[in-house]
Amino acid sequence: MRVLVTGGAGFIGSHVVEACLAAGHEVAVVDDLSGGKKENLPAGVPIFQVDVADAAAVEKAFESARPEAVIHEAAQISVSRSVREPGLDARTNVLGLLNVLEAAVRQGVRAFVFASSGGVLYGDVFEPAAEEHPAAPVSPYGIAKLAGEMYLAFFAREHGLRCAALRYGNVYGPRQDPHGEAGVVAIFLERFLAGAAPIINGDGRYIRDYVYVEDVARANLLALEGEWEGFRAYNVGTGRGTDVNELERGLRSALTEILREQGRKPALPAATYGPPRPGDLRSSLLDAGKIARELGWRPQVALEEGLKRTAAWFADRRNRNADGL
Ligand SMILES: NC(=O)c1ccc[n+]([C@@H]2O[C@H](COP(=O)([O-])OP(=O)(O)OC[C@H]3O[C@@H](n4cnc5c(N)ncnc54)[C@H](O)[C@@H]3O)[C@@H](O)[C@H]2O)c1
Repeated sequence: MRVLVTGGAGFIGSHVVEACLAAGHEVAVVDDLSGGKKENLPAGVPIFQVDVADAAAVEKAFESARPEAVIHEAAQISVSRSVREPGLDARTNVLGLLNVLEAAVRQGVRAFVFASSGGVLYGDVFEPAAEEHPAAPVSPYGIAKLAGEMYLAFFAREHGLRCAALRYGNVYGPRQDPHGEAGVVAIFLERFLAGAAPIINGDGRYIRDYVYVEDVARANLLALEGEWEGFRAYNVGTGRGTDVNELERGLRSALTEILREQGRKPALPAATYGPPRPGDLRSSLLDAGKIARELGWRPQVALEEGLKRTAAWFADRRNRNADGL
């Protein structure tokens, strides 16, 4: 299949691109490179450097790539920025999505997969939430994800587009941006490797459902290749809760092991505690039973293994940068 991945130069998008190529699909990418990087992409993947909010440019990219399926990962991803600038958030996350959906319909696309979010839809949940859990987003970012899902359901009804919204947990893995506000795994690793103490917000007892990026990419592939009609939403998480204190300990031991294997003597600084972040959820957990039953997806990379792989990637990147490569 010819697959167009928006946001394909970003963290999750680039893993989706790799998974699509490995499955034998032909891939093109639409990305404005505001957050993503060309070097995240495998060689030879065509990229249209286009802002999804620019309808005419999106249309042109679709005419040139002639996709049969779309995976829409492009987004303004900062929750706090959406709170400060809701119009800017909606420009990319609502209008941009609509431009991509309309171009998809005009191009005769058959399947459309959308990156949604379990955390921002369900809010605080202390048991894994299933898809029926009421959505009550509190940020413009979350409101746009919910609106996005509703637009997908509309496009499925109105235009016969087969649509899936994948509600991710906290995705982590290689290539995540360590300079954002989210992505605690990448942020802590970057600080450890710079010899700085990771800063834990509040008491660190904030529970999240961490899911490895390659598992998320595989969920996208399964949704792309599904055979239903209409719109479906699926959670993509593990149902396992980990708080930030445990995560920090897990990362510390994963990185210590890797640095020892490289013949170094790691002395990672102890974490420090900062003020809590206003509005942070106490607990967010996803029940991924539906995607297991209907698409056969189960997470394959346990947290310990995922942290090891991610720590190895960040350590290697730091070595490469230090060598000036
Ligand atoms: N990382 C997570 O834990 C998580 C959780 C839930 C949902 N999501 C969703 O997954 C998707 C991918 O997120 P990510 O973590 O890989 O972030 P990312 O920033 O690495 O990827 C987003 C990509 O979209 C591109 N982009 C941004 N604005 C654009 C625009 N106007 N036009 C074209 N391209 C644009 C960026 O350059 C970037 O490459 C997003 O839709 C995000 O909301 C992520």
